[in-house]
Amino acid sequence: MPESNVIAAIVETMRTLAGPHPGFRPVHAKGLVCAGTFRPSPDARRVSKAAHLQGAAVPATIRFANSSGNPEVPDGAPGVRSMAVKLQLPDGKQTDILANSVEGFVASTPEQLLEFLRAQLPDPATGKPDPQAVPRYLGKHPGAAGFVQRLMQKPVPASYAQAAYHAEHAFRFTGADGPSVFGRYHFVPEAGEAYLSPEDGGKRPSNFLRDELESRLKKGPVTFRLELQLAEAKDPTDDPTAPWPAERKRIELGRVEIISISPSSLADERRLIFDPNNLTPGIEPSTDPILAARSAAYSISYDKRSKGE
Ligand code: HEM
Repeated sequence: MPESNVIAAIVETMRTLAGPHPGFRPVHAKGLVCAGTFRPSPDARRVSKAAHLQGAAVPATIRFANSSGNPEVPDGAPGVRSMAVKLQLPDGKQTDILANSVEGFVASTPEQLLEFLRAQLPDPATGKPDPQAVPRYLGKHPGAAGFVQRLMQKPVPASYAQAAYHAEHAFRFTGADGPSVFGRYHFVPEAGEAYLSPEDGGKRPSNFLRDELESRLKKGPVTFRLELQLAEAKDPTDDPTAPWPAERKRIELGRVEIISISPSSLADERRLIFDPNNLTPGIEPSTDPILAARSAAYSISYDKRSKGE
């Protein structure tokens, strides 16, 4: 199948699995838009000449979400949570970082992702998904199985402010006169990480993550360190299912400080689109085929939800 057809089929399968929710994203449907600031650290400019890493703080829009395609999903249900950040650059442009609460991903290529999603579709004969289809996929793809194991260890964040979020792909960072390095972003919560068991999550009110963030923000800002994990020579830079060893050196690029939840969060999220390929000079994509597929998928999805489909 040509690449563009695979991408369109992925979005269509996500939409089928989510069910009809006009105007919402087919994944990461239930979200919360916040306002804040990104302050680069003094070391950041040595890593990259990117405009937001040169010293001055820039405004940030942050969207937390549950990765489910159901906009009514209870906040205590196990699953991946996300943090998407849009930084306002001094020249009027923007750059985005999208991160998930579980390190890695379920597929190394768009074809694998399509296979994984199709494994969850109902079998026309029974009207139910084949219970063996996902385990079969995980058996064939150890990277995806590792992802599911890590998800089980952090099934439900106790707070959007107490999960670490990982951007998964490698990007290439180039300073004004320094050599290039490959790195992966991680947002690390200043409040520390805290997760609930699926059982405890199930006892929480349906919107507890929103309520918790609201009361936390009344006491002060919520802060995440943006860390860059640096690749060593043999670390793969093109496979999001293969996290690098935890001991790889990390540099603090700056801090995201979240001040408030937007009073027009629902309207904001409909208008907003985050794209990991929305980069700025000084930061370039790796050759990761999943990264390369994302812009087209996000734009098809945006087009459909903007039309209320
Ligand atoms: C080929 C692989 C992927 C496809 C096809 C895909 C597809 C999508 C789609 C269709 C959306 C909704 C976009 C919109 O309507 O605005 C979305 C949202 C999102 N995806 Fe992916 N995704 C992929 C890989 C990843 C990976 C590797 C990550 C890891 C960080 C990720 C993180 C997110 C996040 C954080 C959002 C929510 C952004 C927001 O809050 O608006 N995705 N994805």
